[in-house]
Amino acid sequence: MIPHFISEIYLDDIENHGYTIIHNAIPSKLIAQLMLDCYRINPNFSNAGIGRKNDLHVDQTIRKDKTFWFDGSSDAQIHYLALMEEMRVVLNRCFFLGLFDYECHYAKYLHGDFYKKHFDAFKGRSNRIFTTVLYLNSPDSGGELVIYKPKSKQVEVSIKPKAGTLIMFESERFMHEVLPAVDDRYSIAGWFRMNTSISGIIDPPR
Ligand code: OGA
Ligand code: MN
Repeated sequence: MIPHFISEIYLDDIENHGYTIIHNAIPSKLIAQLMLDCYRINPNFSNAGIGRKNDLHVDQTIRKDKTFWFDGSSDAQIHYLALMEEMRVVLNRCFFLGLFDYECHYAKYLHGDFYKKHFDAFKGRSNRIFTTVLYLNSPDSGGELVIYKPKSKQVEVSIKPKAGTLIMFESERFMHEVLPAVDDRYSIAGWFRMNTSISGIIDPPR
């Protein structure tokens, strides 16, 4: 059965355009619980890194948000992961993708924080297939997500964060950026991954 938050329309968007924007995707009660969870773990947010494996480092000229990787320490996290598991099964059934897991973190952008143009995955160098972004609050201004047309400098779409909006896009296909936040901005960024493990080594960890 297709979960309530992923209808044929959104699957068609993914098939035809490589991305979809789902408003009110997640029940507002769960959004509120995830937001409370952010306040609970607030002291444990840390400066976000870029790059992978040995090349993972903090570069505040590229991104200034703070993140916290899900650790399953709250019912809200477990509930959200269960929804994404349903989503994973649907995506595999529709697109034969062989997605095998999902990783995600909370992200907090305070006044002035941004994430410059980037890809979440590079061909052949990552197993991230689909990016998800879920907004947990609705800042009055700032912090728009700008997604660029594939292989172009033109804007495909600019999205004003709104609590409950879930965005999904093909990780290798879309360059994107987060414009400087004005009001505090809370979200969950996540990635559906394919298994590219060789000789029992899961690649990449984080
Ligand atoms: C990311 C990212 C977009 C957003 O964390 O990689 O691009 O709107 N996030 O928060
Ligand atoms: Mn990104």
